[in-house]
Amino acid sequence: MNDKIITLNADRLQDPQRRKLLAGTGAVGLTGFLGGGLLSVPVNALAEGTPAGSALLGFKGITASTADEMVVAAGYRADVLISWGEPIIEGAAAFDPEGKNSAADQEKQFGDNNDGMSYFPIDENRGLLAINNEYVNEPYLFVHGGSKATSLEDVRKSQAAHGISVIEIQRGENNRWALVRPSRYNRRITANTEMRFTGPAAGDKALQTAADPSGLKVLGTFGNCANGKTPWGTYLTCEENYDTYFGTQQADYVVTPAQKRYTLNPSEPERNWADFDARFDVAKNPNEFNRHGWIVEIDPMDPTSTPIKRTALGRFKHENAAVTVAKNGQLVVYMGDDERGEYIYKFVSNEKVDNANPAANKTLLDEGTLYVAEFTGDAAGTPLKGIGRWLPLVHGQHGLTAENGFQSQADILINARGAADVVKATRMDRPEWIAVNPHDGRAYCTLTNNSKRGDEGMPVNPANPRPKNIYGQIIRWDEKGDATAQQFSWDIYVLCGNPIAHPEGIYRGTPNVTAENTFNSPDGLGFDHDGRLWILTDGKYSNKGDYQGQGNNQCLVGDPVSGEIRRFMVGPKSCELTGIAFTPDYKTMFVNVQHPGEEGDSHFPNNSPRPRSSVIMVTREDGGVIGA
Ligand code: FEO
Ligand code: CA
Ligand code: CA
Repeated sequence: MNDKIITLNADRLQDPQRRKLLAGTGAVGLTGFLGGGLLSVPVNALAEGTPAGSALLGFKGITASTADEMVVAAGYRADVLISWGEPIIEGAAAFDPEGKNSAADQEKQFGDNNDGMSYFPIDENRGLLAINNEYVNEPYLFVHGGSKATSLEDVRKSQAAHGISVIEIQRGENNRWALVRPSRYNRRITANTEMRFTGPAAGDKALQTAADPSGLKVLGTFGNCANGKTPWGTYLTCEENYDTYFGTQQADYVVTPAQKRYTLNPSEPERNWADFDARFDVAKNPNEFNRHGWIVEIDPMDPTSTPIKRTALGRFKHENAAVTVAKNGQLVVYMGDDERGEYIYKFVSNEKVDNANPAANKTLLDEGTLYVAEFTGDAAGTPLKGIGRWLPLVHGQHGLTAENGFQSQADILINARGAADVVKATRMDRPEWIAVNPHDGRAYCTLTNNSKRGDEGMPVNPANPRPKNIYGQIIRWDEKGDATAQQFSWDIYVLCGNPIAHPEGIYRGTPNVTAENTFNSPDGLGFDHDGRLWILTDGKYSNKGDYQGQGNNQCLVGDPVSGEIRRFMVGPKSCELTGIAFTPDYKTMFVNVQHPGEEGDSHFPNNSPRPRSSVIMVTREDGGVIGA
């Protein structure tokens, strides 16, 4: 790897916070944890006696690793299923390890930086994986090794490496799977694929552009972070950091308050698509910006289907979509907005899921109520516990009126963040994935970290109790009644920390954090059928200072009842582990290695000259259920 790549990688990380979260924020001490008197007992007392030896976790926890390889618990193996650039569509060119593939080649190859994904079975030994390709590692994607596009061809190649890859896979020996090619299902959806809008904001003036005066048709999806899966067998892909793709060459362009609320920074965009593709120039096409930041529904079984942006679910930096069916049959979708101080939302459909007639579910995601969460402490001021309410974002209610800039429900959905501000939702520590425990319906959300918590304008609150929250926490809530309820109770499942660096105090973490399992920045999250909570991290991997003993990003498993957490797997150098899917027999688990070597230090997989994001399949040597 040359120095250029290392330098360029270092200044274009996907998550700008990575650079800013400096190590060395010493323990604030328990007094700093008292935030409004809400936490009056030492953290160490909270779960004293948390039992070790959970029967749910059937593997031996592993130590931290800094190696440039997948390390997995004894009795398991981790193999690569597919990597960035692998041909998936008929006629695709072979992957060129020196980055010489063209934009046209990339359109037929597996996309970059795979993130959320879902598995859709066809039969016992065949199925589809729909996989997000969130963003790209420019210095590895571009043949010139630079972090910026230098031509329209570069931009088109980048656009072609974004989006979604649908691949057919087939089971082979010992529950290991292989790509099927050719397959009529294999498909690439990119930043240029035609899609349509539905729901209350479809056709709205703010979604109309010169290229699409109807406001109903839109090109492409990008920033596809995590995902969801509907009971009727479709895939939900979530548009997250879409703002980083918009810029302008007009030096005196003035950002509107609504654009600012969505962190548009057109003079210094992270990616310079606007330099070559006017669609992304906000001075020339201001409304194009409003056409991204949605959840998109895709039918993976129909390769000719048009993806649909479902506006009823609101526009923000969507992390994932945790779909559950309430006891009465209404569909509920929990969603996080991943930015410091942003909110947790839920959508409740008006109609009920019709399992007997999947076609009847086609408009379920278009009509319903979008809510945003308020988390408060309980009356007794119990630490790390409290109650909450779901505040409806409905036009005409709670100040969501024309006087406050909301002329219609479409206005509320397009500027969901602004609407959530008006109803005074609770600002969270970067909501990432949400997962619902299939056994008790309790929802868990990773609040990955928040370096700005405690700064002016972002005080600690009961659910986000630590200033300079460098480690993150997992919060969970129990709806009062069923998933459609408007009130809930919550607690913190784990306050992440590091007992090695901080033997005491607020950065130690709750007692289910130990020197053996310590980790930071929980991000991906999923439950398996037995109720094991799978936790994937996207955090600091320096293994020094506040992060000593934590190693590379990793996968851990939690017992939701006892609270015990064990480290199951560790990824290669400077990657994040993200995305999780199981086959219906739970004998194969798919996990993504995203951006290995973003610091220029990896040759994953297989000593590759340019590191490649890859889908990993985890299997048990004895053929058993993963984690059991
Ligand atoms: Fe794409 Fe918030 O992670
Ligand atoms: Ca994430
Ligand atoms: Ca993250």
